[in-house]
Amino acid sequence: MAAEYTGLCCGSLDRVHEVLRLVGVPQEGVTAVRGWFKDTLPTLDIPRIALLHIDADWYDSVLLCLEHLFDRVVPGGFLVFDDYGYWEGCRMGWEELRARRGLNLEVINIDGVGVYLQVPAATVN
Ligand SMILES: C[S@@+](CC[C@H](N)C(=O)[O-])C[C@H]1O[C@@H](n2cnc3c(N)ncnc32)[C@H](O)[C@@H]1O
Repeated sequence: MAAEYTGLCCGSLDRVHEVLRLVGVPQEGVTAVRGWFKDTLPTLDIPRIALLHIDADWYDSVLLCLEHLFDRVVPGGFLVFDDYGYWEGCRMGWEELRARRGLNLEVINIDGVGVYLQVPAATVN
């Protein structure tokens, strides 16, 4: 099934900015980064993430995003997977990180396809 998408999953910075305009998101404060995740993710200077939305479909891509960004989600922050209920690779990417880290976070269904998880808030001793 994934093979049907070969060559079709491409976008452009112009299209990104057009979509942001269409949905009324102010352009200032938005940084679009062009390129493959393997090249761009290591260069990002994003120390703290409140909401990490991963819409990358494939196992390698989802896992790469998680490897680079999951630890930056702040306590109480959220992780959203756009395709969890649709693409097996998305579920496998999360499962791989979850198993490696021994994480036990509840995966909450949104609409049968998208899901979200909340990183536990820090406890104060
Ligand atoms: C389902 S689309 C979603 C795009 C956007 N979030 C949207 O809703 O229009 C998934 C996107 O992830 C991109 N993608 C997947 N793996 C990638 C990778 N390793 N590096 C860069 N982009 C990747 C694909 O090219 C595709 O544009």
